Amino acid sequence: MQEEGRRRLLEDNLEKLMRTYTNVFDLGNLDEALKEAFEIKKDRYKYEALGRHKTCLLIFFNNSLRTRLSTQKAARNLGMDVIVLDVNQGAWKLETERGVVMDGDKSEHLLEAIPVMGCYCDMIGVRSFARFENREEDYTEKILNQFVQYSGRPVFSMEAATCHPLQAFADLITIEEYKRAKRPKVVLTWAPHPRALPQAVPNSFADFMNEADVDFVITQPEGYELDPKFVRGARVEYDQRKAFEGADFIYAKNWSCPGVTNPADYGRVLSKDMRWCVDSGHMSWTNNAFFMHCLPVRRGMIVTDDVIEAPTSLVIPEAANREISATLVLKRILEDL
Ligand code: CP
Repeated sequence: MQEEGRRRLLEDNLEKLMRTYTNVFDLGNLDEALKEAFEIKKDRYKYEALGRHKTCLLIFFNNSLRTRLSTQKAARNLGMDVIVLDVNQGAWKLETERGVVMDGDKSEHLLEAIPVMGCYCDMIGVRSFARFENREEDYTEKILNQFVQYSGRPVFSMEAATCHPLQAFADLITIEEYKRAKRPKVVLTWAPHPRALPQAVPNSFADFMNEADVDFVITQPEGYELDPKFVRGARVEYDQRKAFEGADFIYAKNWSCPGVTNPADYGRVLSKDMRWCVDSGHMSWTNNAFFMHCLPVRRGMIVTDDVIEAPTSLVIPEAANREISATLVLKRILEDL
């Protein structure tokens, strides 16, 4: 599409107030968001009329089970129609770089595809993981921001290169539901994994915990330091046992090297140290902590069977709360249309 055409398409939509949900700050006051989430949980169809004749488009560049199902369910709770597009299955292969001669296998440019997608919906959810090719492109959220810039629609993240805020909000809701102390100790622990995984989940979890009223500790092997903009004032403890002592919640997750201390290591697997796998011995160091993980999880790598199957495992309630976090976010977007 020519620049003029794209500009006109955007102008057509500019009178609509844009809203994005890409990080914790888009939620505003977290206590109010939690209160609203619990109201929704009591009656998830209360706002069914809000989405009448509105369409929610969900774009997946990467696989998903929970996000795909819970976000569709949330949109339907609000009375919306839903369109789901798996970009790599059935759509044209998309070029994402400007200035390239498209003589390969990519038939369509993202810069035309995005505004076209915007024509068919009222809001767009995007899943687009880190590619690990260029840290700066990942950490400036190049793909997600192109949707924000060119779709003419409110955009929400369904896990982008650096953040997964729908997951982290569901995690916070779960912690609020199960906490036994007013200000619980919450520990984010790195755990081993055979493949290089993005940092989006731990980044967003850190973002939310730093905003919530919790005692937050991050533990990981040397070299796995998360980006300072997500760690902020959190305590970082390299001794996993010390970190676990007195914990009320253990949140396990693997992430690949964030490349903070050595940019050349960005996206690499630096360790598969099985001593970091969360087993019953690790859990015995805690204050009878609840176990959390965003799923999907590799048993025997991240966590042992007995820990994930224990009554203190919250992985299923946590996944169930994805419907609530998505319902709240989509509701707020609808209210601003
Ligand atoms: N936790 C999460 O986002 O799960 P999916 O990747 O299955 O959507």
